[in-house]
Amino acid sequence: MKRIGVMTSGGDAPGMNAAIRAVVRCGIARGMEVYGIRRGYEGLIDNEIVRLYLSDAGGIMHRGGTFLGTARSERFRTEEGQNRAKDVLNMYGIEGLVVIGGNGSLTGAIALSDRGIKVMGLPGTIDNDLSYTDFSIGFDTAVNTCLDAISKIRDTSSSHDRNTVIEVMGRECGDIAIYAGMTGGAEMVLVPEMDYDIDDVVAKVMSGIRRGKTHSIIIKAEGSKGTTREITDKIQELTGRETREVVLSYLQRGGSPTAKDRMIATLTGAKAVELLDENSESMAIGIRDNRIAAYPLREALEMPKRNNFEAVKDLVDVLSK
Ligand code: F6P
Repeated sequence: MKRIGVMTSGGDAPGMNAAIRAVVRCGIARGMEVYGIRRGYEGLIDNEIVRLYLSDAGGIMHRGGTFLGTARSERFRTEEGQNRAKDVLNMYGIEGLVVIGGNGSLTGAIALSDRGIKVMGLPGTIDNDLSYTDFSIGFDTAVNTCLDAISKIRDTSSSHDRNTVIEVMGRECGDIAIYAGMTGGAEMVLVPEMDYDIDDVVAKVMSGIRRGKTHSIIIKAEGSKGTTREITDKIQELTGRETREVVLSYLQRGGSPTAKDRMIATLTGAKAVELLDENSESMAIGIRDNRIAAYPLREALEMPKRNNFEAVKDLVDVLSK
């Protein structure tokens, strides 16, 4: 395989640049021509493709975001858009494509794979919502950003005897909330995957107050039941203690990637190029049980997510006594 493409798609994630760098440099080292596709599937449909050289991958690894740009493409959801994307790749003679993105982006890649393009999917999302990999590129950085915010919010919350409900990202996946909540010493973590009763949240805060706690921190994933405003108001009303709401939002998506994210990005990027060079079938590459692992693309995206939220919830409860 002589010509390969690389793109980032969906929400950006710290470490995407490190993955692009690995693809460009490993590809060129194997004698390939590497092409960068701008703005994900949108840019592919619109023929926004540039040849990438060794120097293009310089000075980007430490930067958050993605220098290729990214987008959520409605057009690529249609058959017409998918055919057009494939035609553009054929026009350039690009036989293999590395797609760096989350669940939606890698599921979209199946459409190209079905049209004869060899696609290697890398897990690029802060959400960690891909089942086939233990960790995705950007997740560790996002969790550490949340942790830093929680620590700062704790300083002021304890000084003022306030409770705080901190909303973190994750529309369908509670991993950021769980990791940030557990490591940030939260009183409770609310995730989309599990229902909860607001009375239990209030009871937890009240039991802390009775034991002399000056503040409680509740971490709420954005996709969990109810709005952050509603929960905040309810806690304030029923505990009689001032309660504030903080939505971390896009802060979590920016910033220089941690060593862990750079490592996952680099190793999965290198593996993607290796597999393309071997003319492998389309695969999704990730990290499983501390090793780089690759699975057939469709199979990877159909795997059920491994989680143990019940046990985690109980542990958070015990640890925050
Ligand atoms: O997929 C990553 C993510 O940051 C989610 O956690 C969040 O729900 C969503 O993207 C926000 O997307 P947008 O950039 O379209 O606002």
